[in-house]
Formats: sequence, C-alpha cells, structure tokens
Amino acid sequence: MKTYNIAVVGPLGLVGRKVIDILVERRFPVGDIKFLGTSKNKNKKVEFNGESILTEVAKEGAFMDVDIAFFCVDSSISKYLAPIAVKEGAIVIDNSSAWRMDNNVPLIIPEVNPEDLHSHRGIISNPNCSTIQMLVPLKPLHDIYKIKRIVVSTYQSVSGTGKQGMEELNNQMIDYCFNVPMTSSVYPHQILFNVLPHIDHFLENGYTKEEMKMVNETKKILDENIKVTATTVRIPVFIGHSESVNIETEKPIKVEDVINILEKAKGVKVIDDIKSNSYPMPIHIQGKDEVFVGRIRKDFSIENGINMWIVADNLRKGAALNSVQIAETLIERNIL
Ligand SMILES: NC(=O)c1ccc[n+]([C@@H]2O[C@H](COP(=O)([O-])OP(=O)(O)OC[C@H]3O[C@@H](n4cnc5c(N)ncnc54)[C@H](OP(=O)(O)O)[C@@H]3O)[C@@H](O)[C@H]2O)c1
Repeated sequence: MKTYNIAVVGPLGLVGRKVIDILVERRFPVGDIKFLGTSKNKNKKVEFNGESILTEVAKEGAFMDVDIAFFCVDSSISKYLAPIAVKEGAIVIDNSSAWRMDNNVPLIIPEVNPEDLHSHRGIISNPNCSTIQMLVPLKPLHDIYKIKRIVVSTYQSVSGTGKQGMEELNNQMIDYCFNVPMTSSVYPHQILFNVLPHIDHFLENGYTKEEMKMVNETKKILDENIKVTATTVRIPVFIGHSESVNIETEKPIKVEDVINILEKAKGVKVIDDIKSNSYPMPIHIQGKDEVFVGRIRKDFSIENGINMWIVADNLRKGAALNSVQIAETLIERNIL
C-alpha cells in the first residue's frame, strides 16, 4: 500500500494531539511522521503507534520530505509557515482561520463539498468547528428543501479556545473548591458557573469574529444565497459544542421526513426521543465521530421551518477528524 510522509505542526496542542490519535485509530497510511512544534518544546517525546518520536522545530526546511502537513497552530503562524510548507512540496491541511476565506483555498467538509478539493493549490482549509457540525446535517436538508435562512445560537466548550481555555476552567474549579479568589486571563470574565455571549473579538458591526465565521463560511461551503445569523456563546463545559439551529426552507418540510433524511445522512446520528428524555449532550458525545442531532421539531412561527439541537466533539469532527478525513479524501480521489 502506498504510504505518505506526514508532519503535524503544533503536536502538543489539543488539536495536534487529536490528529496524532486519529491517524493511528483510522490506520492512515503513514510513511514517516514528524512532529513540528515550538523551539521551547523541542525534543519532547510524543507517542505514535507505540513509538516515541522527538518533536522538532517548525521552520523553513522542515517540510522538504513531507507529503501532507496538518497545521494545528494559530492563524499567525499558519499565515507565515503554510506557504513555506507548500513551496517545499507539502500539501497543507490547516485548522486555523488564516486561509478559510481566501478564494484560492478550498474550505472543506468531506460530507458536504468534497468536490471543491480538486481546485486546491497546496493549502486546504478546515472550517470553524461550529460551522462544521452545523453543515453536516444541514447539507442533505438543503439539497432537498433549499434552506433560505439559518438562525443559530451556539453553546461552545472551553476546549474550543485550546489548552489554555481548559486550564482556565480547571483552575477556577480548584480555586472555588479551596475558597481562593478566581483569576481570569484567557476569558474577559469568570467562565466557571457563567455563560459568556462573546467568542473571539468584537467587530465594528457588533458581531464577534466567531459569529461572522459561521455566516461567511456557510456561504462559501454550502450556498452563497443562504442568510445566516449567529450568536456564539462560551459555556463552562470542557469538550463538546452544542447548537440551537433554526432553518427556514423554500419548500414545505415535515419533521418525520427530516428525521428520515438525517438518519440516513453520512456522519450524522439522530438521538431524539423526548419520552425517554433522549437528546444529544456534550457528556455523551465526547470521543465520538458523528454529529448528533435531536429535539427536531416544527417551527410554528413560520410556514416552512424546523428547529433542532446539534452537538459534536469540537476536537474531533470540529477539527482533527475533519482534517484527517480531508487527507483520506485526497487519497481516495487521487488528488495528492
Ligand atoms: N480547539 C478546537 O476545538 C479547535 C477547533 C477548530 C479549529 N481550531 C484551530 O486549531 C488550531 C490549534 O488549536 P488548539 O486548540 O490545538 O490550540 P492549543 O491547544 O493552544 O495548541 C496550539 C499549539 O500550537 C503550538 N505552537 C505555537 N507556536 C508555534 C510555532 N511557532 N510552531 C509550531 N507550533 C506552535 C503550541 O506549542 P507549545 O505547546 O509548545 O506552546 C501549542 O501546542 C488553532 O488555529 C485553532 O483556532 C481549534
């Protein structure tokens, strides 16, 4: 079997670690693998398939023998380093927001728009975690009923901020238990026992950058004519993003048909039985690959409307798993 030389950039972060796990879990055909991190964390041991590999520094010259580089770092680093990696011969699959809205860079969810991969010029972008989990179930509905408008509110876990977000919630829990005053450095307010209607920076239009990512990425991936309005909210959950999603469709849409379609949709699992209080929740979906949908019901306030509740593991389908699936699709479609 043909194998591919892999680099993981940012191997000690939450997404980088997950990419490494998922490459092993899915038996990705890895030839050589290298882990490229910061100079402060050079020569750290990282386990891969029972082998201990030392991290190297991510810099010019490191990508010469690499076929696929998974970038799991901030957008400023990706902006600088991804073009260097491409020049040295690698295909970059980038998790940051650096390239998502670049016209020359495909923004890919393999269940939704795999055909866009064919236009890649070296860099491929992974969408925002909240966009990915929303569009996986909405795509098969859009194909049949044509979605006109989406209203979404998110309930996003602290791991979406990276390892510092998880540390901040953890530290505030410890401070609370020991009756010590809590400090906040990652978020502008205490996150423990709180809800922050604020993810990423505020923009001049009054929305946050995260909210506008959901709007713009949905248009790029699914349909530029869809109207989207988003409110993105951080909650004190470690892993798993939840979303309340309302769609308005052009064609009449029935709840039972939505359930039928979503039960057959690739990458989707329906958990929807209100009699037994069954609906998706972050505590149940951690470590799972699917996007979970429940609370599917008619929106009685408009003619053709549906409400639903969507939950997914933001580190897996929202980031690492989607990246590895992009690489698998490149191989399947022979476009490496
Ligand atoms: N977390 C999510 O749910 C999620 C979802 C979708 C997309 N993303 C995106 O994925 C990227 C990574 O997120 P994350 O959650 O994994 O963040 P993270 O936990 O903070 O990890 C970031 C990693 O980047 C490394 N790094 C920093 N500067 C570097 C450099 N110059 N060269 C190489 N590595 C460098 C850090 O290394 P050290 O450990 O040595 O400091 C750290 O391990 C971000 O762009 C994020 O927006 C995250």
